[in-house]
Amino acid sequence: MVVAIDGPAASGKSSTARWVAERLGFRHVDSGALYRAVTWLALSEAGDPAGWREEAVRALAERVALSPTAAGFEPLVDGAAVGEAIRGTDVTRNVSRVAQLGSVRTWVNERVRAAGGSHDVVVDGRDIGTVVFPEAPLKIFLVADPWERARRRLIQRLGRHPQEDEIAEETEHLVLRDSKDATQTVQARDAVLIDTTFLTQAEQVDRIVALARA
Ligand code: CDP
Repeated sequence: MVVAIDGPAASGKSSTARWVAERLGFRHVDSGALYRAVTWLALSEAGDPAGWREEAVRALAERVALSPTAAGFEPLVDGAAVGEAIRGTDVTRNVSRVAQLGSVRTWVNERVRAAGGSHDVVVDGRDIGTVVFPEAPLKIFLVADPWERARRRLIQRLGRHPQEDEIAEETEHLVLRDSKDATQTVQARDAVLIDTTFLTQAEQVDRIVALARA
């Protein structure tokens, strides 16, 4: 069984997917973490992002693996966990470049399908319901107002309530990343659209768990 959760940047996909997986006894697969891990490696080894060549980035991807953990899967680089390093600003600003490379997308999709082939999974990303698992029996497309997405992402990152000017700046970054990711961020025709702007995380998790059990 596969539950696919897609949506734009910071729409709450990963945290929701993790929680839904826990409730259902499934494993969580965060496809964005693979794009982030490859980007993190490219930033340390492939020089100026403007000059990144597809073959070089694709070769670096070979050093990234998706390894099982108790709750799901985590990316390893050269066999070591990367943890929060892949969530930094530099990675976030450059990850869309890596995500545009067709051969890297094929590589990520293979890793994610392999994880789903061995376990029941909740997978989050941009194109899970359209490209990676088009036959998934439950597909969710999560959206939220950009200002609210920026506010939530900052609370997560800063651990405090952000100021208005901080939210405004973060909103700009999110909207820019959404536009760079627009090609692959597609709502499947059979996906259930959930707007989380006025929902708590517990409410959105409850809705998805109920749909999965229906
Ligand atoms: O959590 P957040 O929305 O910030 O992003 P993420 O899920 O960690 O994904 C990071 C980046 O990976 C996105 O901005 C996309 O460029 C790319 N991505 C993608 O192209 N396709 C996916 N299935 C997942 C992520």
